[in-house]
Amino acid sequence: KKIVVLISGQGTNLQAIMDACKAGKINAQVAAVISNKADAYGLIRAKNSGIPTAVFERKNYADNSQMDRAISDYIDGIAADLIVLAGYMKILTAGFTRHFAGKILNIHPSLLPKYPGLNTYQKAIEAGDSEHGTTVHFVNEKMDGGAVILQAKVPIFPDDRIEDVEERVKIQELQIYPLVVKWFVDGRLKEAGGKAYLDGQLL
Ligand code: GRF
Repeated sequence: KKIVVLISGQGTNLQAIMDACKAGKINAQVAAVISNKADAYGLIRAKNSGIPTAVFERKNYADNSQMDRAISDYIDGIAADLIVLAGYMKILTAGFTRHFAGKILNIHPSLLPKYPGLNTYQKAIEAGDSEHGTTVHFVNEKMDGGAVILQAKVPIFPDDRIEDVEERVKIQELQIYPLVVKWFVDGRLKEAGGKAYLDGQLL
């Protein structure tokens, strides 16, 4: 199976997925890494692993739809089985999400449906929450709105700073994202009617 990963930055989740593929834990290959930022560190990680990269910058396209069309044409050329968003910080157009319906995963650092969008750590701390976490979900046209697949929770302690909670959440992300990718690659995970199923059971 072929996976394409979309990034904008560090690429620690990308690294975890590449490592799991290389180790044979996920029965697939990362066929390409796509970034909307030319300076994303994740591109260096991909090159270090010998994986092809492609950069699509918004400034080179008339609008978001044309940019996403270029990306989807590239992915179609690879015939990818799965698209993994790993810190891709741009909202995909409905044309893109519909074209790849049921084949796009995202990881978002909150316990969705709580705190979609940006600055989730700050929001959780300011709200006085005692826990935070991360969510892997299918992607549809609503930002951070697709069917939830798996979440991991971490505590927030009274004197925590953003970085403390972020570090705790990150550790969990690097565990759960490769696991969900493996489920998908093994054909155990499906999306239907806006819901997620594992081994035929509603999640
Ligand atoms: C992750 O925390 C993910 O939840 C969010 O963006 C971050 C990406 O980190 N969507 P990295 O680029 O994988 O290191």
